[in-house]
Amino acid sequence: MTIEHLHASDDPATMVGALQRDGAVIVEGFLSDDVLARCNAEIEPILAATARGESDMFNPFFTWFYGRQTLTITGLAGKSRVFATEVLTHRLYRAMCDEILLPNCACYRLNVAQVLDRGPGSEQQLVHRDELAWPHLFRPHPEVQVASVIALEDFTAANGATRVALGSHRWPQDRVAEPDELVAAEMPAGSAVIYLGSTIHGGGANTTTDVLRRGMHVSFCLGWLHTEENQYVATPLETVRSLPRASQALLGYAIHDGLAVGGGYLGAVELQDPLALLADGAL
Ligand SMILES: [Fe+2]
Repeated sequence: MTIEHLHASDDPATMVGALQRDGAVIVEGFLSDDVLARCNAEIEPILAATARGESDMFNPFFTWFYGRQTLTITGLAGKSRVFATEVLTHRLYRAMCDEILLPNCACYRLNVAQVLDRGPGSEQQLVHRDELAWPHLFRPHPEVQVASVIALEDFTAANGATRVALGSHRWPQDRVAEPDELVAAEMPAGSAVIYLGSTIHGGGANTTTDVLRRGMHVSFCLGWLHTEENQYVATPLETVRSLPRASQALLGYAIHDGLAVGGGYLGAVELQDPLALLADGAL
């Protein structure tokens, strides 16, 4: 049992097919060597200034869930230009979200973008479905989220590669993943494991003594859902103004116009589309 490995040069339709069939797919070469190097160069000084495991979150459960040995950079769009201009708008994210999310929304948006640097001694994370960020959703429901972890260093079973229960996106809600049903997303740096919001997964234990498992967690959700990270506050408006229109749209500045399917709108400012206000210099 392995997660299908494809390459960024493969047909995106093949990736979508594997994702819908298995609930997860690995795309090698997701980031080019150049983008990967520039991402890491931007991230290094931020991580260096972050104390491992010293920050408590708003709720002790989530402090435990993230792990005491984990360094976390949140709100990446406001902190990494490479992320905000090159990773966020990646053509393969768009290809997968167009197929999986767009049938059920007028536009999709960034849900969360974080670097998770899981240090030696990190314990296996509680396996979970990311879509439980929205526990009140009626079930069954269409996919609401496309998620990913990009390997910023090589991911191995020993350093805590993300583990995925293949096919779990189709399991009954109460079925538990047995340990032998979890497959490690081993992959070279620059690869991404893409999975659905309904797929059971979790960070593996980092059993090494000196190897970090640095990953970038990026997920997108239907445009009418509230997001895990508050992108409006996390990304300074001054930064948003400097970003390409496509990035601004994914950060939630595009109005969600449901008129084409007989609905209303979400996210207007003074009855206008914030994207247009940004373009006009009015925001
Ligand atoms: Fe997760």
